[in-house]
Amino acid sequence: MTEPQPVKARAAQAYRARFGAEPEIVASAPGRVNLIGEHTDYSGGFVLPCVIDRRVAVAAGCGDGVIISADYAEERLMGHERDYSWADYPRGVALQLGAHAPEGTLPAWRAAIAGDVPRGAGLSSSAAIEAATAVALDSLFALGFTRRELAILCRRVENEFLGVKSGIMDQYASLLCQANHALLIDCRSLEARAVPLDLDIAGLALVVCDTRQARGLRDSEYNSRQEACARAAALLDLAELRDARESDLARLGGEDLRRARHVIGENARVLRAVAALEARDFTALGQLMNASHASLRDDYEVSTPALDAFVNEARAQGALGARLTGAGFGGCAIALAPAAKVNALQEAVQAHFAQAGLRAPEFYLVGPASGAEALI
Ligand code: GLA
Repeated sequence: MTEPQPVKARAAQAYRARFGAEPEIVASAPGRVNLIGEHTDYSGGFVLPCVIDRRVAVAAGCGDGVIISADYAEERLMGHERDYSWADYPRGVALQLGAHAPEGTLPAWRAAIAGDVPRGAGLSSSAAIEAATAVALDSLFALGFTRRELAILCRRVENEFLGVKSGIMDQYASLLCQANHALLIDCRSLEARAVPLDLDIAGLALVVCDTRQARGLRDSEYNSRQEACARAAALLDLAELRDARESDLARLGGEDLRRARHVIGENARVLRAVAALEARDFTALGQLMNASHASLRDDYEVSTPALDAFVNEARAQGALGARLTGAGFGGCAIALAPAAKVNALQEAVQAHFAQAGLRAPEFYLVGPASGAEALI
């Protein structure tokens, strides 16, 4: 079997083939999984993502406003309007960076993009394309933005250009995570701290299961969760649910109560998970992951039968903990499992899914991965 060509080489090759010149810059950025801290970022809370060894690369140079996708074998013009294709991500990033650049716009540029982050699986393929484009343009035009500023601008692409009311976790993870570390992010102050992820040493592995379910209602359901959190915070006279305490829950009812209970509990679990990781107490980490899943399933109501099926089967096969990761409504779940049990776990999950009439899942392992980078 031949190794697939790394995405950076594919992007550069596509650039050369289309534009007949070497790219001036090749940047790349990874997808992510979130260890714990789900649906807390847009309430100013805590999250703990780490990057995966799948990435998006952008080969760029000055030129005529054409962007090509090596994966789709398509090309688009940059422009200022959305066309509801993959090109909206680089387009939105260029508009945001331009608006905050000294001249208020960017000179014309061109690029080729290639990636291997599974799309629509909750592994942040969109943040990876935004982050890679942002790093490429920042470098190409010597804009001098910090990684943190680039993450803020990329989030605005989602919120203002694409209409998704997401928090900052995915863009922050893709731009700031380091290899072999998770990143504790305080989504209000935007302070971040790398936390060592010593899974290998402990003989553990992080299994990612893509349930491959269509996530048609994902954006509208996602936005309605964000609105519920904003409403609950307003009812409590708080700017953000981050500041809510358990004693405040008595003042809420119905959906608002359930959503707020999740956010309060999940923020506390993230801080306990960091302490567990630092103490290499993976049993405690697993228990926190399990509690996070139960809260996302029962109070936040973003799980699905397939995500629950994976989580239950993974635990039955010896995982220390398992939970859905990302927005939910389909997509991926993760399990923290002894490395020696990973194959048996995957086989058991496959058999269980087939028996339950669920679509065959796909598995990824979180291997050594590096953060966003730019190469000249
Ligand atoms: C998506 C969003 C993130 C975050 C997660 C849920 O990935 O893009 O901002 O809200 O869902 O934790």
